[in-house]
Amino acid sequence: MLREANIYDIARINELGSILNENFSSLYNINEMLDDGFSKVIVYEKKDLVVGFICATVLYDTCDILCLVVDPLYRRKLIASNLITYLITDIGEDLKLVTLEVRAHNIPAINLYKKFGFEIIHKREKYYKDDDAYLMARKSE
Ligand SMILES: CC(C)(COP(=O)(O)OP(=O)(O)OC[C@H]1O[C@@H](n2cnc3c(N)ncnc32)[C@H](O)[C@@H]1OP(=O)(O)O)[C@@H](O)C(=O)NCCC(=O)NCCS
Repeated sequence: MLREANIYDIARINELGSILNENFSSLYNINEMLDDGFSKVIVYEKKDLVVGFICATVLYDTCDILCLVVDPLYRRKLIASNLITYLITDIGEDLKLVTLEVRAHNIPAINLYKKFGFEIIHKREKYYKDDDAYLMARKSE
């Protein structure tokens, strides 16, 4: 089940986020994002357990995906795909541009985003200590 996150999800979101970045909870203040009026935090729940989430900033017709993580035990079941679809099409905003940044070696994520029509528009050399970053974008008419 897809739904907007609430305060009871914060601990689990931080737990999943730490898979991606051990400093996740200091980098992203989910509590503030739930209330700031321009962030979206969507979770995917299975039998009362949050198994994936996506968070993004939505400003007018532009969306920046900040983070997307699926529990390793639940991958390749289209959970990330459902989260992206919910964010960029079902949520009711008329988004003209969706952007994100991804590690250049993160093949699962790059494949996923390409499936949704994202294109690599810029490479940020050595953006991470151990990797380059791709800036990806998806434009709609
Ligand atoms: C990237 C991630 C979110 C994908 O989640 P997921 O729920 O497994 O993805 P989906 O099942 O929706 O996959 C959709 C498509 O993405 C691509 N994909 C997903 N995982 C892949 C993998 N391990 N290898 C290659 N392609 C992959 C495939 O094209 C897949 O379609 P297919 O299964 O029909 O081949 C998940 O692997 C994850 O949480 N990774 C760690 C966090 C991360 O890197 N987040 C993204 C950067 S913020």
